[in-house]
Amino acid sequence: MKITIFGSGYVGLVTGTCLADVGHEVICVDVDADKIARLNRGEVPIYEPGLESMIRNNREAGRLRFTTDAASAVHFGMLQFIAVGTPPDEDGSADLKYVLKVAETIGEHMSEYKVVVDKSTVPVGTADKVHGVLERTLAARGAEIDFDVCSNPEFLKEGAAIEDFTKGARIIIGTDSEAVRRGMRECYAPYNRNHEKLMFMDVRSAELTKYAANAMLATKISFINEISNLAEHLGADAEHVRHGIGSDPRIGYHFIYPGCGYGGSCFPKDVQALGQTATEIGYEAQLLEAVEAVNLRQKTKLFDKLDQAFDRDLEGKTIALWGLAFKPNTDDMREAPSRELMEALWQRGAKVQAFDPEAAEECRRIYGERDDLILAARRDDTLEGADALVICTEWKAFRTVDFDHLQRTLRTPVVVDGRNLFDPRSVKSAGLLYYAMGRGDSLRRQAA
Ligand SMILES: NC(=O)c1ccc[n+]([C@@H]2O[C@H](COP(=O)([O-])OP(=O)(O)OC[C@H]3O[C@@H](n4cnc5c(N)ncnc54)[C@H](O)[C@@H]3O)[C@@H](O)[C@H]2O)c1
Repeated sequence: MKITIFGSGYVGLVTGTCLADVGHEVICVDVDADKIARLNRGEVPIYEPGLESMIRNNREAGRLRFTTDAASAVHFGMLQFIAVGTPPDEDGSADLKYVLKVAETIGEHMSEYKVVVDKSTVPVGTADKVHGVLERTLAARGAEIDFDVCSNPEFLKEGAAIEDFTKGARIIIGTDSEAVRRGMRECYAPYNRNHEKLMFMDVRSAELTKYAANAMLATKISFINEISNLAEHLGADAEHVRHGIGSDPRIGYHFIYPGCGYGGSCFPKDVQALGQTATEIGYEAQLLEAVEAVNLRQKTKLFDKLDQAFDRDLEGKTIALWGLAFKPNTDDMREAPSRELMEALWQRGAKVQAFDPEAAEECRRIYGERDDLILAARRDDTLEGADALVICTEWKAFRTVDFDHLQRTLRTPVVVDGRNLFDPRSVKSAGLLYYAMGRGDSLRRQAA
């Protein structure tokens, strides 16, 4: 099939590449000329495991192209995927200006039947809005051309995006058109061989499914963080509790790691946007509000633990920070807990020496050069002259640590672990003060 993808970010690039990889002809179009130039030079503007070689292979095979020329891209594909950003507006609702701009562009240039596929995460009712924009744009041209709009939300995770796209649990298609059903079935057929993954439903249910999925996952995270905070006060260990409840198949082990809050480009904005949708229809979404509030509080906990460890005297301290990305295997720092921590430390006159296997460049892009931020080339370089170590992201490279060396290198033996990576006994036996999530009090009892 001939497929056009608007937006060459995490979702557009992965979607386009994976669809090209199974034999479709794909054009990815983006308004960011620099991004397209880099892609055409063979560079990949984001870090996503496996993506670079897949893009190279499919470009070489002539199945995958990148352009800024929207007109030719609209002419190219029967399927027109919209995979542009939907950032939060001032009130937390999803800002649809990029999505609707693409709809207008398609309406301006199309000359035959197209299926417009909303892949961006968009509030319920957006497909109707996209439909309206297309109708008005075509009418302004005096063109009478048939089209359909469907919803095909994306569930990939950054860091495992290719695996998720190619082996995902489900492919949701929201449509009431038989022609769209046929087109989308053909598009995804290569990924639908093992068993039926396509789930057809009405457009509004498909749009809501995406928000419901992210809100559910965010709820699990905020739930365990709530329990973790209770454990700290009650002298229990949240890691034991996690094992205890995760073993129940009705609960499961996924997404119940006590931590320093969820970040990224999806959970925070999607929980907020769903909450805003609720407000607009006059419904008080109490659970969603609580999920967000718990998360905002959780993101301040690393700083609070450090502040407590240094008796509120952080001025002039140097903090080693491991992990800038909001989660491992990505360079994405959108809404990352590391940002909340660094900004709070800087405000209090502390300096940060940070290491991340992939996100240093992104960090430099966000914060620029500044005296109170050193981006180290190697993990342990951050420890030189540091007063304490904080772990924000659970990269594999952080899981094995020589605690004796850590104890000898840090000026004060303070380790704040936002991801509960270590066995408290091993850390403590090296003479380190270990502040983890939801297990502080059990440590105090060990010490006593
Ligand atoms: N990142 C994820 O893990 C993920 C997962 C599932 C769903 N989503 C959703 O997918 C959507 C895209 O997310 P992303 O992370 O890929 O965003 P992104 O910011 O990485 O990429 C968006 C791209 O769209 C481009 N763009 C903007 N306007 C355009 C236009 N008029 N024409 C062509 N290109 C245009 C931008 O230049 C940018 O390159 C969002 O709605 C997001 O919520 C993201």
